[in-house]
Amino acid sequence: MQISLKVNGQEYSADVEPRLLLLDFLRDHLGLTGTKSDGGSTSGSCTVFLNGVSVKSSYILAVQADGSEIVTIEGISQNGELNPLQAAFWEMGAVQNGFSTPALIIALTDLLNRNSNPSESEIRAWLDGVISRDTGYQNVVRAVQKVAETQANR
Ligand code: FES
Repeated sequence: MQISLKVNGQEYSADVEPRLLLLDFLRDHLGLTGTKSDGGSTSGSCTVFLNGVSVKSSYILAVQADGSEIVTIEGISQNGELNPLQAAFWEMGAVQNGFSTPALIIALTDLLNRNSNPSESEIRAWLDGVISRDTGYQNVVRAVQKVAETQANR
């Protein structure tokens, strides 16, 4: 089936199998390997923005994303610079590994877009869908709070 979609600001058209997952389209067809597959668990490592909402790309067929706008971790920086949350992850020591960090960044950017000053419990609840084995999430929570504080002081 023919699909057309915008990914990280660039238009793509492709002929894909109807059963192809959006995750596999991004990784295998477009080479955007920052979005990770967890091999069938539900860790949410495949999280991307679809039309401005964070979703698990392994739960969506590529054909279902026809006409959509996708943003992956490769497209989330701003003018070649880390976005505020990426910078806060770095500063607060919240970066865990290349597997879960991209999904954490996408999911928490979505949270901050919806709620510019989330409480710790709201941050932790939001992270229900993105599981990282390497973290107690403490520094992740601090990174989100740092962005919220910076935005409040502008
Ligand atoms: S790859 Fe497991 S939730 Fe998407």
